[in-house]
Amino acid sequence: MKYYNIITFGCQMNIADSETLAGELEKREYKATNNLENADIVVINTCAIRDTAEKKILAKIGGLKIWKKTNPKRILAVGGCMTAQKEIPTNLIKTFPFIDIIFGTENLSNFGLLLDEFVKTRKKQIQTAPETKVSRCVEPKRDRQINAWVKIMYGCNNFCSYCIVPYVRGREQSREKLEIINEVKNLIQNGYKQITLLGQNVNSYGNDNPEKYGNFPQLLKEIDKIKGDYRIRFMTSHPKDLTKELIDVIANSEHICHSIHLPFQSGSTAILSAMNRKYTREQYLEKVKLIKSKIHDVELSSDCIVGFPGETEKDFEDTLSLVQQVKFLNMYMFVYSKRKGTAAEKLEQVSDSIKKDRIKKLVGLQNKISAELSKKYVGHDYKVLVEGFDPKENCYVGVTDSGKSVFIKSDKNILGEFKLVHIESCKGSKLYSNIIK
Ligand code: 5AD
Ligand code: SF4
Repeated sequence: MKYYNIITFGCQMNIADSETLAGELEKREYKATNNLENADIVVINTCAIRDTAEKKILAKIGGLKIWKKTNPKRILAVGGCMTAQKEIPTNLIKTFPFIDIIFGTENLSNFGLLLDEFVKTRKKQIQTAPETKVSRCVEPKRDRQINAWVKIMYGCNNFCSYCIVPYVRGREQSREKLEIINEVKNLIQNGYKQITLLGQNVNSYGNDNPEKYGNFPQLLKEIDKIKGDYRIRFMTSHPKDLTKELIDVIANSEHICHSIHLPFQSGSTAILSAMNRKYTREQYLEKVKLIKSKIHDVELSSDCIVGFPGETEKDFEDTLSLVQQVKFLNMYMFVYSKRKGTAAEKLEQVSDSIKKDRIKKLVGLQNKISAELSKKYVGHDYKVLVEGFDPKENCYVGVTDSGKSVFIKSDKNILGEFKLVHIESCKGSKLYSNIIK
């Protein structure tokens, strides 16, 4: 028996990519293991979005030196966003000569072939140039039978000036509409309860071939017709491409969750322009107003960057006031990290101490808002999907349609079930509930 262990860094898309890699490995009769000592192959799926991610990954690879030395027959593969940068593969091999295979984000479905070749020849395999689109459809090996990620498009055309993604994931390519619909149908038939459609900017689905694929709202509408008890989520949405048509589809759907992840990145129009985001503060707020007026009980979540080059105290205050105004359910808050080759790399940088101070203020404000928002759930009933178990709380974790997590006491295993719960109490932003049925 041969065993594999995949170590994944980064976003949801990387988690989905790791499932594709697992699919390739299982096809070759490898089995998953959590124990590195049992693993015949370790694959590190890397992230390049911020400097902190890259540092962690380098430490991880360094840590595997002894693992490899103990048994040189073991195979170490490193792939993903970090290795898709031009100079990285050569540098990695220089620093860590014990790496056997390196592949980029656009070589996922060739990973199996690279592995076969390495096993046959024991010669290092390095492939980071994009393959063709057709060869991308590898059957992923999914982890749990509750949530499934479905990629609907690859790459990004937006070139936000801080972001490395367009450089490491290439241009936008939509997946075949029928292929997506059939995959979702199969997943629902196989008992999955929640499908999350993934793309760097799902709102531009179909833009590369509108006659053939239509657009994102049309895709959602078709998926929503599939019969069954399930939920559809999607991420990520670029505010500039979120249309009234999409809002209407969500509002009138049966299965699409009333929850939208809509990164605003900055509350200052001047910074948004420097970020190349192509919308103003006012336009963002207008869209939020429309969403809230049309979609019943909707919640929004967001991403935000502090300390972008040139961000003044006034710009940062605009970010705080936008957060105060919109009241996001959840926010992912980041300190700007300079990325090689991006347009913002050359701009004058904000000092580390200012960045630290600003992120602390922003996190403080969001924590207050999350706690405030939680209160409105108390005393009401919600249908939740039980997605996990929290050993610290000794409770199951259910999630409302709007994306709010709720603790549930239960002696019975209720994982993967839809339950109707009554929210009894709230501690900070944590909610505690009892099952009604
Ligand atoms: N520095 C900090 N945060 C970044 N993001 C993207 N690039 C950077 C960067 N260079 C954040 C954005 C994006 C999220 C996935 O990561 O907020 O929405
Ligand atoms: Fe990066 Fe902007 Fe593309 Fe998102 S839309 S992946 S932030 S370039």
